[in-house]
Amino acid sequence: QNNSNLNTTLFLCLMCVSASVPQFTNSPTMIVMVGLPARGKTYISKKLTRYLNWIGVPTKVFNVGQYRRDATRAYNSYEFFRPDNDEAMKIRKACAIAALKDVCDYFTREPGQVAVFDATNTTPERRDVIHSFAKANGYKVFFVESICDDPEIIAENIKQVKLSSPDYVGCDKDEAVADFLKRIECYKMTYVPLDDDKDRNLSYIKIFNVGSRYLVNRVQDHIQSRIVYYLMNIHVTPRSIYLCRHGESELNLVGRIGGDSGLSPRGSKFASALGAYMRSQQISDLKVWTSHMKRTIQTAEALGVPYEQWKALNEIDAGVCEEMTYEEIQENYPEEFALRDQDKYRYRYPKGESYEDLVQRLEPVIMELERQENVLVICHQAVMRCLLAYFLDNSANELPYLRCPLHTVLKLTPVAYGCKIESVFLNIEAVNTHRDKPINVDVDRDTEEALETVPEHI
Ligand SMILES: *[C@@H]1O[C@H](CO)[C@@H](O)[C@H](O)[C@H]1NC(C)=O
Repeated sequence: QNNSNLNTTLFLCLMCVSASVPQFTNSPTMIVMVGLPARGKTYISKKLTRYLNWIGVPTKVFNVGQYRRDATRAYNSYEFFRPDNDEAMKIRKACAIAALKDVCDYFTREPGQVAVFDATNTTPERRDVIHSFAKANGYKVFFVESICDDPEIIAENIKQVKLSSPDYVGCDKDEAVADFLKRIECYKMTYVPLDDDKDRNLSYIKIFNVGSRYLVNRVQDHIQSRIVYYLMNIHVTPRSIYLCRHGESELNLVGRIGGDSGLSPRGSKFASALGAYMRSQQISDLKVWTSHMKRTIQTAEALGVPYEQWKALNEIDAGVCEEMTYEEIQENYPEEFALRDQDKYRYRYPKGESYEDLVQRLEPVIMELERQENVLVICHQAVMRCLLAYFLDNSANELPYLRCPLHTVLKLTPVAYGCKIESVFLNIEAVNTHRDKPINVDVDRDTEEALETVPEHI
C-alpha cells in the first residue's frame, strides 16, 4: 500500500515534467542529506543553499521536519519517532512524499536548479525511494552524510539550535534535551550509513566530525565538484568577520565614482580610528585584507599590522564611466544610466563590469573567508555589498542597494543558522555615496528624474 502511494507520486511528478525528453545533461540536482538528528544537516543545508544562490545557482531547501510540524501540531515527544509507531511512520512517509512533490514543482514551475532535501534519510529504503523518484524525473542525486560520534559536538548542537526549535516551545530545558536524546536513539535503531560497497554507484560525500575527515565518492559534474570543494572549506570555529570600506577618498569628496585616488583628511582620520577600534577588539590572530587600490592600502597602513592585498577586492570597474560624477554619466550616457537603474545587478558598464561579474570575481575571496577565522576586509562600496549579501542571504535585486556607508565597520558573527550583524560608526564624518533606485527608470526620463537620488557632493 505504501508502494502504491509512492508510485502515484512518481507518476504525478512525471506528468508535471513537460512532454519532451528531460535534458539529462543540464538536469537539476537533488542534494540529499543523510544523518542522525543534531549532526548539523540543517546548518549545512542552509549554508550550502546560501552559497549556491549567491554564485547564481537557484537553490532551495526542503526541510521535511517542517512538513511534519505543519502536519502534526499535537505531537510533542520522542514517542513519535519510534520505528514501531506505525501511525507516526505513515505521517512521516507522507511528509517526505509531499516534500518530493514540492521538489518536482520547484524544478518545473520555478527556475530551480538545485533542491536540498533536508531530512534524516537514515534508512536505505528511504534513500531508494528518493533515488528512484530522482531517476524517474531525470534529476541527479548527490548525498551529503554527516557522521558525528563526538558527544560534545552533539550536545553543543542541541543547545545551539534544537532547544529553540518549535518542537520544544514552552518545554523545560533539561526535559527537552532528554527527549531529544531519546529521539536520536529512535533513529539509531534503523540507521544504516552509506555503504562503501553497496552504495559504490552513488555520488556522495561523507563528512566526519564536522570536517576532521571526508570521504568523496563518484563526483558526477561541475556543480557537485563545487559543492564538495565548498563543504571541505567551511568550519564552525567561532570567529568574527569585519567588513568596511576604505576611508573617504579625494574622489568621494567630489562625487566621482571609481578611480584610484588617495584618502581625504577625514579618510586618514578614519584609518587611525579603525586601528584603535580593531585594537579594542583584542584579536590576536587578525588577518587584514585590502584591494590593490591606493585608498584601501592607505587605510590598512594606519593599522600598523601586516596585511594582504587582493586584486579580486578591487572596486567594480565602471568602464567608460570611471572617475565621472553621476551628473556627467547622465549627460554623456543617459541611456546607459537608465539601463543601469532598470537592472543594477546585471547591468554591465561599457568596457567595465556588472555586479554579477563582481560576484564571480569575489567567489575565491568568499571561499578563503570561509577557511579563515578572524578577518578584517577593507574594500569598496560595490565589493562590500557583494560580500555582505553572501553573509546575509540577500537576493540579487537587493544586493546593489545594500547600505554600506563610509567610516562604518560591520562586524559579522556566525550564530546558529545565520549571522549576527553589528554596525559600528567610528564617529568620523564622511560624504554619503549611496544612490537609491529612482522612481523613473525609463530611458526617456528627464534629467531631473534621473538625478533625483544622487547624493550631495562638492
Ligand atoms: C553498480 O553499477 C554497475 C554497472 O551499472 C552494476 O553492474 C552493479 O550491479 C552496480 N552495483 C551496485 C552495488 O548497485
